[in-house]
Amino acid sequence: MTESDRAEAAACGKVILLGEHAVVYGAPAIVAGIDRGARALATRRAQGPSELTLGGETFAADPEGKDDRAKAFAALLAVEPRLGAVHVEARSDLPAGGGLGSSAALAVAIARAAEALGLRAGESVEEREARVLERAGAWERVFHGNPSGVDAMAAARGGCFRYQRGESVRPIMPRSDLVVCVGSTGKPSSTRETVGLIASLRARRPDVVDRSIDAIAVLVKNAHLAIEAGDLRAVGSFMDLNQMLLTGLWVSTADLDYMCELARGAGALGAKLTGGGGGGSVIALVSPAQDQAEGAQRILEAWKRAGFDGFVARIPAGTPHRSGGSA
Ligand code: MEV
Repeated sequence: MTESDRAEAAACGKVILLGEHAVVYGAPAIVAGIDRGARALATRRAQGPSELTLGGETFAADPEGKDDRAKAFAALLAVEPRLGAVHVEARSDLPAGGGLGSSAALAVAIARAAEALGLRAGESVEEREARVLERAGAWERVFHGNPSGVDAMAAARGGCFRYQRGESVRPIMPRSDLVVCVGSTGKPSSTRETVGLIASLRARRPDVVDRSIDAIAVLVKNAHLAIEAGDLRAVGSFMDLNQMLLTGLWVSTADLDYMCELARGAGALGAKLTGGGGGGSVIALVSPAQDQAEGAQRILEAWKRAGFDGFVARIPAGTPHRSGGSA
């Protein structure tokens, strides 16, 4: 086997700072890549079928498969089937159903590794990454039905940016580091279910849902300005208001609300669920007024005492970066 028969790639997870769910309906969202993510190793196979090894199980790509992983892998490969037969071994360091973009990170890492096996002469990185996103979108549609694309974009780009369906991505340059505690309810969430829940609420009460979406869009626009101005107190308030609106849309849970309260009580400037809700994770913005490591520790300890795990993610000030890359 030669070097060109194997390729490795990575992609990052994400936190949505503001705007989840509303982004499905065309409102903007603010998202940031985090260090934890997914990795994939692709190997060329002499003959088919293409196979995916994930979590110790191996699935043959199958568009009609009973398992969504077999279907999603087939959909990812089918976007442009010229790659030939491949075996991809993938792993995510993010909890599945944790609201941190594990599925999209896997999709981007798998697509990048597979694409790297079929490198085309003269093709630019941008062209290849555009196809990686298309492949990730096909994977995500199997799991989530109607994804906005925000998770896959975050997995592919990293950094902090504003995302809106059908618009070009706008990088956000935080004036100062954003330090965020990410806490897990320990209960997996289904983005498909919570997106479906809001869709059915909207079918019954379009006025209520559309007002919330409009209000979230306003919060996102103001939070964007506040992040770039370094006004983290304002960012925290916008996060709290976003959480209230998400609670009004029925995608928060008692655990998520409780974890937000604990974080605020421990000094967070603001806290909200992140991702699909209905379980999954919360984020809490650490105040820069104190030592940020200590501030983060206080929040993590408050969660720990109540039986919830968490970790710290730093969204650095300054220039946004591109993550992952294939090797
Ligand atoms: C999930 O991380 C974000 C949602 O807005 C769904 C989506 O944008 O596809 C809930």
